[in-house]
Amino acid sequence: MSTVDPILQHSSTPALHFVRLRLFFMSGTGNTLRVAHWLAEQARPRRLAVEIRDVEGARSSPLPRPERGDLLGVLMPTHAFTAPWPVLRFALGVPLGRGASAFVVATRGALKFGHVNLPGLEGTGLYLIALLLVLKGWRVRGVVAVDMPSNWTACHSAQAPWKVADIIGRARPKAEGFFGAVLDGRLHFRLGSFIGLALGLLLAPVSLGYLLLGRFYLARLFFANEDCTGCGLCADHCPFGVLKMRGRPPRPYWTWACESCMRCMSFCPERAIEAGHSWAVLLFYLAHLPLMAWLFGALTHVTGFVTPTSPWTLFWTKYSLQLLALAMTYAGFWWLIRLRLLNRLFTWTTGTHWYRRYHEPETTLAELVGKGKRVGEGRRSDGVLE
Ligand SMILES: Cc1cc2nc3c(=O)[nH]c(=O)nc-3n(C[C@H](O)[C@H](O)[C@H](O)COP(=O)(O)O)c2cc1C
Repeated sequence: MSTVDPILQHSSTPALHFVRLRLFFMSGTGNTLRVAHWLAEQARPRRLAVEIRDVEGARSSPLPRPERGDLLGVLMPTHAFTAPWPVLRFALGVPLGRGASAFVVATRGALKFGHVNLPGLEGTGLYLIALLLVLKGWRVRGVVAVDMPSNWTACHSAQAPWKVADIIGRARPKAEGFFGAVLDGRLHFRLGSFIGLALGLLLAPVSLGYLLLGRFYLARLFFANEDCTGCGLCADHCPFGVLKMRGRPPRPYWTWACESCMRCMSFCPERAIEAGHSWAVLLFYLAHLPLMAWLFGALTHVTGFVTPTSPWTLFWTKYSLQLLALAMTYAGFWWLIRLRLLNRLFTWTTGTHWYRRYHEPETTLAELVGKGKRVGEGRRSDGVLE
């Protein structure tokens, strides 16, 4: 283990014995990665060895068991008022903390209307991850939600550059204030985070619905418009490796585990990736009503399957059929929009065609680790950034 800075060693606060900072992040469009870099910059003058890693990288090269002086940071965007599934999976898989220190940061989507700031809402995300860490024996020293510009450009246009700059300018001191407290050995749990939790608990059905179904449904809205050149940049840099180039000429196909992180849409050099709004309406009716009813009927007919009396069995049966119906409908759509006329129809009837795209202004695609074929220059395939 590296030697401890003598100045830190003589400090009376035990938390100043931190010698290694491990930051694990998920980031679609760079907001969360930017916050991770701010924290890293703050840690270096204190002589902490810093490692920044993508949560997906931890699947192939797991986090080692913590040693004395380790500080773990889990950083994530908020999705549907809670933690995104890959971060939940990461927290479930972390090794036992054995009393080592950790903290949790959620970036959330802030909007600016004129000069009025509308903060995001992290909901249950922070405390859910904190709870999982505590259950695994980590000492959680603080949690914080940091407002960054909203990146949900499937829903709304990105904000004007001056608004983006303003939001990011306010975010940095908040993140640094929080981290300074953690490094100084102070606990950091503010009233705001408890209010966020309370609202998140009220909105828990939305979060649960999103985790179970919503994210699969939203992932089925993406398609490439006619400007797509088939370059494959989106597939190469998908953080979860779920985007595949298929067909001739190759076009991106969004497979199962897409998290709607918005990276593909935000960084496409041709602005060719859309989230179909008119298609969303059609998909809902096609997949949820006739196709699902037909699948249910077919299942009953072919297997002699009796409608389950147990509500749980019925729920899981319907749930599986719904996912299957979504996948089948999307596969059909994906082939059909290769027809120029249909592609144009869906392109011109989605708001995203006119929306501004967003990614954190200083973040380049090469900085964001992809799980596709080519990983961004200078990055290791296990996701270690430094
Ligand atoms: C699918 C999706 C759902 C989101 N849900 C929320 C939310 O519930 N609350 C919130 O404040 N921001 C929400 N956002 C905004 C992001 O959490 C926010 O912009 C975050 O900083 C993005 O970080 P990243 O660039 O590191 O991915 C959502 C964004 C997406 C794409």
